[in-house]
Amino acid sequence: MPVTLDAVPETLLWNLYHRAAEARRPDTVLPDPRAVELVDAMDFPFEARFGPAAPALAQWQALRAACFDREVRRFLGRHPGGTVVALGEGLETQFWRVDQGTVRWIGVDLSEVIALRRELLPGDPRMRLIACSALDERWLDEVDTAAPVLVTAQGLLMYLARDDVHRLLTMCAARIAAGGLVFDAVSPRMRDRSGREPAPGTGGYRPPRWTWAIDRDERRLIGAIPNIADLETLRLPRGRGVAFRYLVPLAQSLPPLRNGLLSILRARLGAQRRP
Ligand SMILES: C[S@@+](CC[C@H](N)C(=O)[O-])C[C@H]1O[C@@H](n2cnc3c(N)ncnc32)[C@H](O)[C@@H]1O
Repeated sequence: MPVTLDAVPETLLWNLYHRAAEARRPDTVLPDPRAVELVDAMDFPFEARFGPAAPALAQWQALRAACFDREVRRFLGRHPGGTVVALGEGLETQFWRVDQGTVRWIGVDLSEVIALRRELLPGDPRMRLIACSALDERWLDEVDTAAPVLVTAQGLLMYLARDDVHRLLTMCAARIAAGGLVFDAVSPRMRDRSGREPAPGTGGYRPPRWTWAIDRDERRLIGAIPNIADLETLRLPRGRGVAFRYLVPLAQSLPPLRNGLLSILRARLGAQRRP
């Protein structure tokens, strides 16, 4: 089936392409054979559309995914039968990277993406796919919200309007008794520069503009949503080479530099139990 996506849904192909490029390396920071198989099997001109995958971007993409994986594993270590909800899941192959045999998994994305996912990736008895907007409360009706739930949003919130981000986080916090949230967010500077020029390292591909960014005020507002606690910024795992082994970890330890980068944040949902 030829793949035809545009606007925000197309960005999932950029992520997948770079993750797979990193996973092809013998010294990869994120083994992901299913992503490699997927890219090889898909009828989509990845290189013509996105240019050759730049190794630094590919590694960065993989380290970002590895940071989310670490949080999912941490949650599953505490709640082996817990539910992970991946909002805006795209063609992420995280389920196969972290599955320990008991996780219950729910993927939520727009209908054209869920159709593509069903076509290209195998199902699993513990996995459910829901075709609806993350902003539509219907997906929460399908989750056992009395049991621990980890909601992830990797590469999603920056494409939403600010009020919608607040509404979504408030909705999760109001409905999920215990668990956590993990999401990434760009800085205001990154948002303001987005969409103006072709993405670095790409063959002229111009991704859609980011609309939501996080700054100190946004952090404060999110941290004050009832039932959200312990909002904190996570560090990327160390990677390969000087930049990802030393410079990025150093930049992440210095708040003025850290706040100019993409942040991955974690919060606890519920006052009683830890995620
Ligand atoms: C940058 S991609 C990220 C995909 C995947 N999470 C990853 O990291 O590879 C953004 C994803 O968000 C999805 N998306 C955009 N708006 C959405 C919405 N309102 N509700 C659910 N998914 C949405 C897109 O279809 C796409 O799959």
